[in-house]
Amino acid sequence: MFQILNKPVYSFYRLLKATNLRNQHQFLKIAAVSTLQKNGCRSSNQVIFRSSSSTTKSAKKLFTPGPLGTSTSTKEAMLRDLGSRDVAFINCVANIRQKLLDIAGVTKENYTTIPVQGSGTYSVEAVIQSTVPRDNGKVLILENGAYGKRMATICDALNIPRLLLSFDEGQPVDVAKVEDTLRKDSTFTLVSIVHCETSCGIINPVVEVGKTVKKFLKDGSYFVDAMSSFGAVPLDFQAGSIDYMVSSANKCLEGVPGFSYVIARTEKLLQCEGFSRCLSLDLIDQYNNLEKSGQFRFTPPTHAMLAFQQAIEEFEQEGGLEGRAARYMKNRSILKEGMRKLGFQELLTQPDQPSYIITSFHYPNDPNFDFKTFYQKLNERDLVIYPGKVINKDCFRIGTIGQIFPEDVEKLLVVIKEVCKEMDISLPITT
Ligand SMILES: Cc1ncc(COP(=O)(O)O)c(C=O)c1O
Repeated sequence: MFQILNKPVYSFYRLLKATNLRNQHQFLKIAAVSTLQKNGCRSSNQVIFRSSSSTTKSAKKLFTPGPLGTSTSTKEAMLRDLGSRDVAFINCVANIRQKLLDIAGVTKENYTTIPVQGSGTYSVEAVIQSTVPRDNGKVLILENGAYGKRMATICDALNIPRLLLSFDEGQPVDVAKVEDTLRKDSTFTLVSIVHCETSCGIINPVVEVGKTVKKFLKDGSYFVDAMSSFGAVPLDFQAGSIDYMVSSANKCLEGVPGFSYVIARTEKLLQCEGFSRCLSLDLIDQYNNLEKSGQFRFTPPTHAMLAFQQAIEEFEQEGGLEGRAARYMKNRSILKEGMRKLGFQELLTQPDQPSYIITSFHYPNDPNFDFKTFYQKLNERDLVIYPGKVINKDCFRIGTIGQIFPEDVEKLLVVIKEVCKEMDISLPITT
């Protein structure tokens, strides 16, 4: 279906776009319909729009760990087809690579950004399979949740020797135990850890662990999966001696899904020539091609990159990491207080946990509570939460990242209360 707008309406739409109104598509839809009703036919001064239904259809708020909500202007940046060799696109890629280094607080003298087509897991796998030597390579995985365990699954799929050092879910990685392990065995070539273990929301002490890794492994590399935290939780690359870090476009930088990225210490990366076990996730080949031509080796995610460029601009306008973290913290404090009043209990009890990315809540101890029904009823009101991902504990998760604002959290709390009443769950609940 096409919607037809005449020039004055289109100009007004552009004005709304410039002022970045959040409900501009709603306006666009109304304006298009009224213009259609008035004119009934196309004339030479009319502008044709594809149906905007894909952007107007869903007003859902995603309180999830991903995919996350994105701004209208970020989605709009994709309304453009660019060829992979187009100068505008090559500049966009170069710009993104540099901006990510800036956000990480590192420079291109020592570090480089390598975007990887695919979701976050593709970058995790790209780092492991490209940087662990084929002979005598061995990985130490520090794990306290599902995403750490996934690194072990990746090693197993690749037939890479690994030791999984596990910690209780809901407890941070214990640096003393890491030290103890490295003291006994200093033959690991890569040590990996997750910054924010999104399965429960805990933040691991990546800087302290990094210092320990470098103390015991002179030539070993340190890899941090900062998928759900990069851009919103500080991460000191220098202090933590981080060699490789991964994150993805549709997390705290609020781009759309479609690619992830690695920030790598260039010198380390270049020592890994010939280690890669496959072609498409070969980080060095991807790096060499980007350096040589500014281009991806295979079809690039052009639209997602354009969206990301816009998302980074909006990140800067919000005040960079500090600004973004401030909004997420505000979201989280409203959520924490509101859920506490309703009687819900958090999984993490450590007062020093800055878990403003995602919060896990225990199921209420009420015979009428059923997560599926609870989820469905919230979803019907366009509020999307997420199941828990911890073993042996019945939890659900509420994310406070992406295009979520304090008023959205307040609305969620009101609706959670309504839904509990509808489900005959006594309030305040007990857990
Ligand atoms: C810490 C962490 N690592 C890895 C992943 C996997 O990313 P993806 O689902 O984009 O492959 C996620 C996803 O949320 C994550 O939070």
